[in-house]
Amino acid sequence: MKALVLSGGKGTRLRPLTYTMAKQLMPVANRPILHYVMDQISDVGIKEVGVIISPETGQQIKEALKANPWGFHFSFLLQEEPKGLAHAVMVAQEFLSCEPFLMYLGDNLIGQDIEGFVEEFQISSPDALILLKEVENPRMFGVAEVDGQGNIERLIEKPKEPPSNLALVGIYLFSPLVHEAISEIEPSWRGELEITDAIQKLLDKGGTIKSFILEKWWLDTGKKDDLLEANRVVLDELIRRELRGDVDEKSKVTGRVDLAEKAQVEGSTIRGPVVVGEGTIIRRSFIGPYTSIGDNCVIEDAVLEHSVILDGAVVKGIERLEDSIVGRNAVVSKELHNSRALRLMIGDDAEVKI
Ligand code: G1P
Repeated sequence: MKALVLSGGKGTRLRPLTYTMAKQLMPVANRPILHYVMDQISDVGIKEVGVIISPETGQQIKEALKANPWGFHFSFLLQEEPKGLAHAVMVAQEFLSCEPFLMYLGDNLIGQDIEGFVEEFQISSPDALILLKEVENPRMFGVAEVDGQGNIERLIEKPKEPPSNLALVGIYLFSPLVHEAISEIEPSWRGELEITDAIQKLLDKGGTIKSFILEKWWLDTGKKDDLLEANRVVLDELIRRELRGDVDEKSKVTGRVDLAEKAQVEGSTIRGPVVVGEGTIIRRSFIGPYTSIGDNCVIEDAVLEHSVILDGAVVKGIERLEDSIVGRNAVVSKELHNSRALRLMIGDDAEVKI
C-alpha cells in the first residue's frame, strides 16, 4: 500500500505565521506536525510516500523531510493551485496507479496509532474506509450520516445543518475506484474538488463505504487555538524529563522538562511539561506548563505559560505571556523605563491583545 500526504494549501487560518511557513511544519512540542504524520505512516509499514506540495511552500516541505529517519521512498507531487483534496488525488494518480492507498492530511494529529484502521481496511476491503470523530462544531468539517450498524448513508462537506456530529478526520483509505468517482464530481461552492463529494459519489455508484470511529483525540491544527491545544496534549503525553542543557544553581526545573543541548537556564524556574530547544537562553524567568520554546530563543525577565515560541524569537521584560504563539525571530519586549506607550511593528494579519 502507498500513502499520499497532503502538504499543500495556503494555511489562511494560521496567518501571519503561514505567510512564511507551511502550516504542516508548524511545531508541536518542537517537532513539525508533518513528522508526527510520517511516524504514523511508518508504524503501519508503508514505504512509498507521495507528498503533495504547493509552489509556495514545496521547498520547505522537502527540506523538512530530507533527513528521512523513516527510510521512505518519497515522491514529491506539485499541485499548482489549491483546488481541493480530490484534485490533489488527481495530481497523484500516476504515482498511486491501481493500488489502494492511505490518504493523510499533513496538518492532522491524532492521539492513537492507525494500525487498527489499516487492518480493518485489509480485512473487509471496502472501496473507502473513513475515520470519524464526534465533534462539537460539525459545521466546520465534512460530516457523515451513519445508520445504526455504522454504515454510511450520506456525506456532506461543511453542512449548514449537520445531520450528525460525526466529522471526517483527515485520514482516509481508498481503493483505486476513488479515481473514477473523482473524475465525475464538480467543484463545490468554495471552488474546490472535495474528497467528501468524491466519497459520496462512490456511495451513489454502489460502492461500499465503511467507517471507523476514532476514540482518542483529534486535532486539526490549522488554527491558533487548535495548535496550542495540540501542543498541550502532545507535551502532556510525550514529553519526558531530560536535561541536556545547563541549569545554574539558582534555577529550579521541576517535572517533565526536555531541555536540549546548549540551552542555558539562569536564575529561572521551569515547571513542566515544557520543551526548550537547542541554544535557547532563559534568564530570570518563569516558564509555566504547556510551553514549547524553539531553538536559539532568548527569554529574559519574563513569565510564560501555555505558549509556543518559535525558533529565534526573543521575549524580554514581559510580566505574563499566555495562550500565545510567537513566530520565528519575532521580538516581544517591554522597555523597563517605558511608560504606557506601545511601539509595534506588526505583520499583516497579526493579532495583539493587550
Ligand atoms: C478538510 C475536508 C473535511 C475534513 C477536514 C479535516 O477540510 O474537506 O471534510 O473534515 O479537512 O481536517 P478543510 O481543512 O479543507 O477545510
